[in-house]
Amino acid sequence: MRRRVPLAPISTARQLPRPAELRELVRFRRPRLRPTERRLNAALTVRDLRRAATRTTPRAVFDYVDGAAEEEITAARNVAAYRRVTFCPDALSSVADPDPGVDLLGRRIALPLVLAPTGYTRMMHHHGEAAVARVAGHVGIPYTLSTVGSTSIPDVRAAAPGADLWFQLFLTADPRVNEELLAQAEDAGYSTLLLTVDTAVSGMRLRDVVNGLTIPPTLTARTVVDMARFPGWLLAKLTTPGITFAVLGSAVQGNPTPGEVASLMFDPGMDLTALDWVRRRWRGPLLVKGVTTPDSARRIMARGADGVVVSNHGGRQLDRSAATLDVLPAIRQAVGADATVLIDGGILHGQDIVAARALGADAAMIGRAYLYGLMAGGQDGVLRACEILAEEYQRCMQLLGVRRSADLGRQHVAFRPHGGGDHPGVPA
Ligand SMILES: Cc1cc2nc3c(=O)[nH]c(=O)nc-3n(C[C@H](O)[C@H](O)[C@H](O)COP(=O)(O)O)c2cc1C
Repeated sequence: MRRRVPLAPISTARQLPRPAELRELVRFRRPRLRPTERRLNAALTVRDLRRAATRTTPRAVFDYVDGAAEEEITAARNVAAYRRVTFCPDALSSVADPDPGVDLLGRRIALPLVLAPTGYTRMMHHHGEAAVARVAGHVGIPYTLSTVGSTSIPDVRAAAPGADLWFQLFLTADPRVNEELLAQAEDAGYSTLLLTVDTAVSGMRLRDVVNGLTIPPTLTARTVVDMARFPGWLLAKLTTPGITFAVLGSAVQGNPTPGEVASLMFDPGMDLTALDWVRRRWRGPLLVKGVTTPDSARRIMARGADGVVVSNHGGRQLDRSAATLDVLPAIRQAVGADATVLIDGGILHGQDIVAARALGADAAMIGRAYLYGLMAGGQDGVLRACEILAEEYQRCMQLLGVRRSADLGRQHVAFRPHGGGDHPGVPA
């Protein structure tokens, strides 16, 4: 090698710092005084909201939301499946003026997202179902009220007059109750019915048993002491109307006890003929929630449903069932392009919604993701969760080179559905 002449040191022009320039460089954030606002602004992801929820909500309540059935294998699989997705972006494709909206069951919604039914929501935060419905209306996505909701069908409608409200039905063992619930939902202008079919019997959620948060409750001393450690939550509980099964309560005589609710809700004798009754009775769109095999999906569509929700109840019922993302492509193929297919379970990031849509879902549903927000900050927390997911969704879509949700397709993801057993790439 030829010897080089040494490189002369670089000369740097120096000056005294000017205050105006310093101000440009360091922009101090305005301090936020309200703790809820501070907490929510500090949360950049839904996982941050989950962490924040552990600081605002008693352990037993948090566990009721966060926990799942038996060894929680399916719940973990749901989340892990989204991490096996690889995105394949279209290079040099204009994504100016992005449009994340989609058409779903004859309506335009702001992004392919629906808030899933979750029972007893006022236990998580006293704002409860009313707040979740209001946020859904504000954001422009549907909200599904549960049969075991703690705010009645008309009260949720009154709280969110303009929202697209859906109703989730646990077909109870009492036909008069079923009829009354559907009549109320119809009268209050709920657009869509979701019939949940994965609850022949109650799943075994061990965290709830340990905490005594069962139906009926058998609270342990530890759980009661734990609740006292969260004075904000406790004060709200003590100073707002008691939590009841308000949806069912308005359809049965008197206020049902938790034991009565359990015996009404779980009907081991339910079969496809139940779906026939619901299909005849409900004039609007009908989706069947809790489907994880192509055969079941085909049978359900043949009975006149408008679509299915690929769901394992967030891993809260049959543990060791498949991750929903793994079975989505086969179910879409089985029911064809015209059926409505939603998916839920494990969705905690906007990129998960992109993946679900690319793999065949019309939209995704979230349960825990908005409940973490609710626990962390009531109505504002639910809004924060939706904002985070919407931003992540749009950013991912644009970086994929996709301008409209409608253009997302199978070519945008590399994903090999896994049979449902353990996968070597999935961390334990
Ligand atoms: C606390 C909680 C309560 C739920 N209650 C109901 C319910 O009443 N009816 C129902 O069909 N599904 C219920 N689910 C299941 C959700 O609708 C949804 O399927 C599930 O949460 C999706 O998984 P993810 O939480 O991982 O998003 C509940 C889920 C949670 C977490």
